[in-house]
Amino acid sequence: MKAIVILRPGPPGVLQLCKKTIPTPTSNQVLIKVHASGVNRPDVAQRKGLYPPPPGASVDVPGLEVAGVIKEVGEAVTRWKKGDAVCALIAGGGYAEYAVANASHCLRLPANCTFAEAASLPETVFTVWHNVFQRGLLKAGEQFLVHGGSSGIGITAIQIAKAMGAKVYTTAGSDEKCNACISLGADKCINYKKDDFEEVLKSKGADVILDMIGGDYIPKNIRLLKTEGRLVFINAMKGGESAFNVSDIMRRRLTITGSTLRNRESEFKSQLAAEVEQNVWPLIESKKFKAVIYKQFPLAEAAQAHTLMESSEHIGKIVLINE
Ligand SMILES: NC(=O)c1ccc[n+]([C@@H]2O[C@H](COP(=O)([O-])OP(=O)(O)OC[C@H]3O[C@@H](n4cnc5c(N)ncnc54)[C@H](OP(=O)(O)O)[C@@H]3O)[C@@H](O)[C@H]2O)c1
Repeated sequence: MKAIVILRPGPPGVLQLCKKTIPTPTSNQVLIKVHASGVNRPDVAQRKGLYPPPPGASVDVPGLEVAGVIKEVGEAVTRWKKGDAVCALIAGGGYAEYAVANASHCLRLPANCTFAEAASLPETVFTVWHNVFQRGLLKAGEQFLVHGGSSGIGITAIQIAKAMGAKVYTTAGSDEKCNACISLGADKCINYKKDDFEEVLKSKGADVILDMIGGDYIPKNIRLLKTEGRLVFINAMKGGESAFNVSDIMRRRLTITGSTLRNRESEFKSQLAAEVEQNVWPLIESKKFKAVIYKQFPLAEAAQAHTLMESSEHIGKIVLINE
């Protein structure tokens, strides 16, 4: 099969189209003929040698989410059969013509979703559901701030939080990105290149903040949190170290937490998949949450897809298509 291989850590050009053996599913896995695979910022970190795949994942083929048709099922698989259309969360190997996935990490294709749209969902939806709702415990009527509103994570968090009844604030790096966030349901978007988000939001505060920026955002986030507020980290693109006043945490009884999805145990991902299918799939099918695809590239152009992602020009998701 054709697959994109990371030849060595480096710039986008190290992503090369190669021939690989089609993987064999184990007893609880399925083999998927991949129609589309989502591109995520963690793939860029992996390409640079900064985010090694966990044990058992493809060592050289990136890709954390796919959509396609099941071609083979392992002997212990009961839910799926050959020919079923699914999307799946995988720990690597998605930039390829075929990928294996744990059967319980697959979800049915949501009604009316194309393969490209469905491939853009698992990594971001699983991450947002776990961090905003399971860790951050966001509830209807609460104030939610997500940084990077135009990112794949951001467009997902804005729409799901809004559909769940939260007031949604976000930050983004241009007026065009802010307009896109508002059109997805954000109540307010702060162009952080023009305005300081802490200044704009300090009269409102936040119950839950989802942050992937870190650096100088960390003390600002902590100061913005209301009593019993929750700050959830999924990355720290501006750096993980910071000075902040612990008395803020004590006085307002704040919770600071975070997680990474890829290295979590299979059973955790199975439970998360079931919760996502139960809670988020109906939002897609009732059109309260839609996939936002900025650009599609043929699989062979994965390097161009990474160049676009690193430009941060995109709004929403970038997807690779097997033609
Ligand atoms: N922990 C987990 O399990 C997990 C899972 C998936 C993703 N993530 C993380 O979540 C973040 C979003 O992922 P994604 O795939 O949605 O990314 P993405 O679509 O590439 O979006 C990243 C966006 O962040 C903004 N940004 C702000 N400051 C930045 C900085 N210093 N460097 C780079 N970008 C900056 C950029 O938009 P502006 O123009 O607004 O600056 C950029 O478009 C990434 O950091 C990723 O590693 C974590």
